[in-house]
Amino acid sequence: MHKITLIPGDGIGPSIVDAAVKVIEATGVQVQWDVQSAGMAAVEKFGNPLPEATLDSIRANRICFKGPLTTPVGGGYRSVNVTLRQAFNLYANVRPAISFEGTDTAFSDVNLVTVRENTEGLYAGIEHFIQVDAEKIAAESIAVVTRKGSERIIRYAFDYARRAQRKKITLVHKANILKCTSGLFLDIGREIAKDYPDIEFDDRIVDACSMQMVMQPQRFDVLVTTNLFGDILSDLAAGLIGGLGLTAGANIGTDAALFEAVHGSAPDIADKGIANPTAMIMAGSMMLEHIGEPDAARRIERAVREVIKDGRSVTPDLAKASPCGTAQMAEAIIERLHQA
Ligand code: NAI
Repeated sequence: MHKITLIPGDGIGPSIVDAAVKVIEATGVQVQWDVQSAGMAAVEKFGNPLPEATLDSIRANRICFKGPLTTPVGGGYRSVNVTLRQAFNLYANVRPAISFEGTDTAFSDVNLVTVRENTEGLYAGIEHFIQVDAEKIAAESIAVVTRKGSERIIRYAFDYARRAQRKKITLVHKANILKCTSGLFLDIGREIAKDYPDIEFDDRIVDACSMQMVMQPQRFDVLVTTNLFGDILSDLAAGLIGGLGLTAGANIGTDAALFEAVHGSAPDIADKGIANPTAMIMAGSMMLEHIGEPDAARRIERAVREVIKDGRSVTPDLAKASPCGTAQMAEAIIERLHQA
C-alpha cells in the first residue's frame, strides 16, 4: 500500500485530480490517499495557502500528487509552489514532451525530456531595487549557480537518461555571455559526462537551441539546464506536443517528490467540467513509475495515448468534433485500461 499526499487544488484542480485518481485506482495499484489542502482552498479554510498539516503530510509520505493552485493575489502570500520547492529541496523538474498521435501539431515525432534545475540560478530570490530619493533607478537580480547544485542536477539527468534508456544529453547554457554562472554549469557538465561514456553528450547555447527546437525537435533527447532557461524551454517543448493540457511534470527532491500537471488552475473554464485531464493523468503515470509501479505507469500512458488517437472521447481542446467532458474522457481511459 502506497501512502500519498493528495492536494486537489483550485479551479479545475479537483475535477482533473478526481479523474486521475480514478485512473490510478483502475490499475489495481493500492494507494491510501492522504487528502490535504493548499492554495486558495486552504486560504478559505485555514487563512493560510500552505497549512502546516499539509507540509507534515508530505514530510511523512514523501510523495505528493498535486492539482494546480491559484496563486492568491495580494495579502503578501508567497507562491506555494516556490515554498514547496524550497521546503522539500525539489531540485529536479522533469518534463517529458512526447507527441500524441491524433493531436494537431507541427511535428508528430517529438520525444524529448527537459530536466530543469529548480532551486537556484536567476530564481534564487536574491533581488533588490536601487533607489535614489524613493525613485527606483535600477533593479538587480543575482543568479546563483553552485557546484553542488549543478553536479546534483546534471548527474540526475544522466542517471535519468540511463534509467529511461535515452541516448543523449544536451546541456543548454549561455556560457559565451554569462561566463561565470553558465560557464561553471557547462564545465561541470563536461566533467560529469566523462563518467557516463554510454550516453552521448553535447551542449547548445540557449538561443540557438530554441531555434533548433522549433525547427528540428527530433534532434533532442534529454535537455539539462539551469532554472530560467529550463522554465522557458520546457514550456516551448509543451507547445511542440499540443500545449499545457497534455504535459506533466515531476519535481524530484532529496526529501520528497511531487507530481503535477504543468498548467495552472484555468479559472476561465473552472466549473464547466471540460478541462482536459491528460496532464494530471500523465503526472499520475510518472508518479507510479517513481514509486516502483512501472507496469501500471505504462498501462496508463498507453490507454491515454489510445483515447487521444481515437479522438471520440476527448475534451474540447483536443476534439475535432463532438467533445466530451473531463469525467467522460477519464472513463474512456479506464475502459481502455481494462481492455489491455
Ligand atoms: P493556466 O494554465 O491556468 O491557463 C492558461 C490557459 O490554458 C487557459 O485558457 C486555460 O483554460 C487553458 N488550460 C489550462 N489547463 C487546461 C486543461 N487541463 N484543459 C483545457 N484547457 C486548459 O494559466 P493562468 O490562467 O495563467 O493561471 C491561472 C492560475 O493558475 C494562476 O493563479 C496561476 O498562478 C496558477 N498557476 C498554477 C500552477 C501550478 O499550480 N503548478 C502553474 C501555472 C499557473
